[in-house]
Amino acid sequence: MLWMGENLVTLPQFYTVQDLRAQVATWHAQGLKVALTPTMGALHAGHLSLVEEGFRRADRVIATIFVNPTQFGPGEDFDRYPRQEQADADLLASASCSGLYRPSVAEMYAPGFCTSITVAGLSQDLCGVFRPTHFSGVATVVTKLLLQALPDVALFGEKDYQQLTVIRRTVKDLDIPVEIIGVPTLREADGLALSSRNRYLTSAERAIAPLMFQTLTEAGHAFASGQNAQNVCATATAKLLTGGFSAVDYVAIRDAETLESIEQWAGKPGRILGAAKLGAARLIDNIPILGRNSG
Ligand code: PAF
Repeated sequence: MLWMGENLVTLPQFYTVQDLRAQVATWHAQGLKVALTPTMGALHAGHLSLVEEGFRRADRVIATIFVNPTQFGPGEDFDRYPRQEQADADLLASASCSGLYRPSVAEMYAPGFCTSITVAGLSQDLCGVFRPTHFSGVATVVTKLLLQALPDVALFGEKDYQQLTVIRRTVKDLDIPVEIIGVPTLREADGLALSSRNRYLTSAERAIAPLMFQTLTEAGHAFASGQNAQNVCATATAKLLTGGFSAVDYVAIRDAETLESIEQWAGKPGRILGAAKLGAARLIDNIPILGRNSG
């Protein structure tokens, strides 16, 4: 519950598949369209933009918060991933979200659980090289959330562009009856993409972090004006390292739909993606590649 001015705003919360499904079924029976915005919590304005976009596309929006253990590898930040349940619920209430699904690990992964979804190729590329089990964990949990809620549309941020591509492929391959919507990345004034993990940055690292967006933007322009991908990515990598990033996992130029490599700009929608380490954080970002005359 949250007081906004004199109004008490309540956010219905659901903890079980049964209760979630019953609510969505009630809305569907009333002829209402339902959107789902899966998250791991530690919400920020980027997540709220998913909720807002959900309301442009549906009558009711359910957010989910579940810090999914199966998408974290050994030694990753599962234990210290920020958890702020009340603040998240208040933010969702202030965005007039229609409900919050917050299942326990036991609700999501019953004893004996042993099924997982792997999107061959896509899951092992780019971030998948450095996080080999990550996308299988994501595809599996997102499939479960979609089948649990049975929404009409589901929204995901373009900030995790490879994740969005993996989810689109999973939904298509498994004939899951839902429309997947990618929502553009929200950025700080200096270009840093909003992320729950930005809080891992020290103030000195925070000053360096916008270099990721600047570098990808410059690289995108260089590629669109005729330089080949290999040179563009090598220059971008060097710039990130010189600028203070401790390691660059990749800078890559890919087809925006399939994420296959592109060597030379041919006018088809492309995406430049980067991942690099800065202190305890691993920053990922991506931007569309715009043609010479499109900005
Ligand atoms: O992007 C995220 O927050 C997570 O990967 C998702 C899609 C909620 C699955 O756990």
